[in-house]
Amino acid sequence: MKNFLSAHDATTVPDLVNQARQYKQTKNHNRELADGKTLINLFFNPSLRTRISTERAGYELGFQVITMDAAGGWKLEFEEGAVMNLDSAEHVKEAAGVLSQYCDILAVRSFPGLEDRQADYEDRIINAFVKYATVPVVSLESAIRHPLQSLADCVTIAEHRRSERPKVVLTWAPHPRRLPQAVANSFAEWMVKWGEVDLTIANPEGFDLAPEFTAGARVLHDQEAALHGADFVYAKNWSSYADYGATADLPNWTVSEQKMALTNDAYFMHCLPVRRNVIVTDGVLDGDRSLVLQQADNRTWAATAVLAALLGG
Ligand code: CP
Repeated sequence: MKNFLSAHDATTVPDLVNQARQYKQTKNHNRELADGKTLINLFFNPSLRTRISTERAGYELGFQVITMDAAGGWKLEFEEGAVMNLDSAEHVKEAAGVLSQYCDILAVRSFPGLEDRQADYEDRIINAFVKYATVPVVSLESAIRHPLQSLADCVTIAEHRRSERPKVVLTWAPHPRRLPQAVANSFAEWMVKWGEVDLTIANPEGFDLAPEFTAGARVLHDQEAALHGADFVYAKNWSSYADYGATADLPNWTVSEQKMALTNDAYFMHCLPVRRNVIVTDGVLDGDRSLVLQQADNRTWAATAVLAALLGG
């Protein structure tokens, strides 16, 4: 693996899922692979899970880990040929080149602006780092994908499935803020590429994800119809792709105990952080079918498998 930006970078998704599960079973016994190597994590946006789980994964393999919070005053320039006489103090060409000299793997998190769809869907920040870095680049979430989250979600489903090919429903749920499509895009992409589940996506009219991510999934605009017979329910809010960045106030899409009763005693999943009683009711989130903490735990083992694969381990 050269870089880790999407499901397409995995040699095979089933192999990567199995490797993550193996690292989970052998935790604290994998410190030699990255002995003497350095991992730099660069965050342009805040994070709890991605930051701590990736650091933990680095330590698991023996990396020295350096994390830089670049969300504050460090303004990078990404435009080719820019006249840098405004706010940006440094061009990504130098920043990526310099950081590459300090580490063996460079991991980057950035969010979309949700104003300019074309710019966001070109995934300019992560792709600029790939272009100018001389070490492997890991996406810690980009404008349009969250691949480490999705790999952890595959691991969680693999651990809990009760049939060879479970029905997985990704459902839109309400949120008071405009959110990226990254988690939902990535989840759909990984589920289809994994090939071991049947994926249904439920979202209101006007909230269909970009077609490049939903090929191979069934898309319904009726949440209750989608939930019938589900083995896993994955709730997430995303803003509109068609009316780019727009959101909607639709409290009838909250995942509740009544909605979960339509399923095949499904497990509930969410990437966290979650808005209680907006995305999902307390009863579902605190219930015995909720897998949200297991998903967060599996972030470490997903990241461990990816970092090891990038080192050729
Ligand atoms: N799920 C996830 O990426 O969480 P953080 O934003 O806390 O990293």
